[in-house]
Amino acid sequence: MSAFDSFALNGKVVLVTGASSGIGAHLARVAARAGARVVLAARRVERLAEVQRDIEFENGEALSVALDVTDRASVEAAFDAAEARFGVVDVVLNNAGIGNGQRVLEISEEDWRAMLSTNLDGVWRVAQVAAQRLSTAKRPGSIVNIASILGLRVGTGYSHYCAAKAGVVQLTKSLALELARYNIRVNGIAPGYFKTEMNDAYFDSEKGQAYIRDIVPMRRLGNLQELEGPFLLLASDAGAFMTGSVLAVDGGHLVGSL
Ligand code: NAI
Repeated sequence: MSAFDSFALNGKVVLVTGASSGIGAHLARVAARAGARVVLAARRVERLAEVQRDIEFENGEALSVALDVTDRASVEAAFDAAEARFGVVDVVLNNAGIGNGQRVLEISEEDWRAMLSTNLDGVWRVAQVAAQRLSTAKRPGSIVNIASILGLRVGTGYSHYCAAKAGVVQLTKSLALELARYNIRVNGIAPGYFKTEMNDAYFDSEKGQAYIRDIVPMRRLGNLQELEGPFLLLASDAGAFMTGSVLAVDGGHLVGSL
């Protein structure tokens, strides 16, 4: 047995929300490489075809399902489809999110609701459905919530996002507390800045480049590969005694000098 065997996901069913792009698409491929059967979930199923093809090309197994995290019926239907094909979902990567910046004076009621509805309510809804099904089936499980360093500190133009992500941090700890007795672990990852569809225009700009150079201690963006270790640690038995933790993966951004 190698020291890394406990990081494997062999035999596990892993559901990834927002799997069509960015962090979700990357970690879905990683889960498949680690041995999991992967349920790729996104609002537009056709956008999942490429990820599914990549996984199957490497002899992995994946199922693409439609999922809108803001809609209870859609979440239940996605878990039903996952169970019909692979069985109960053991691991959830609660990744779906939106991230448009807006100044506090300009945020409308609708903007606020959309942010909270996706980035906080959606995480709660998916986690709750996963936990209900795991506890009914009397199976252990792991839920990994993608928070953000903006859930732990604040940034200009992101009050609604910061509030939602801070909610995800506290929700992660609360769920960990209540679900530990069912052997369902709940942890979070607080990424710093990784270049994805959500922010690529900004980080390509002069202003974005200067921000990274001047503010992030490591003076660079993260590579998606740098989320693999933290994700596998929390998802797999390697993290069997971890619950309620939120790991910052941010190039030192949170410990930036004041
Ligand atoms: P992304 O925009 O590439 O991915 C977000 C995914 O969520 C997309 O596939 C989108 O379609 C999906 N999504 C949005 N609303 C949804 C809904 N109602 N139902 C189902 N899916 C929905 O961006 P990225 O960067 O990969 O974001 C993933 C997560 O990482 C988000 O929660 C984001 O807040 C978080 N994050 C990202 C950081 C970064 O620097 N990229 C930093 C910190 C956190």
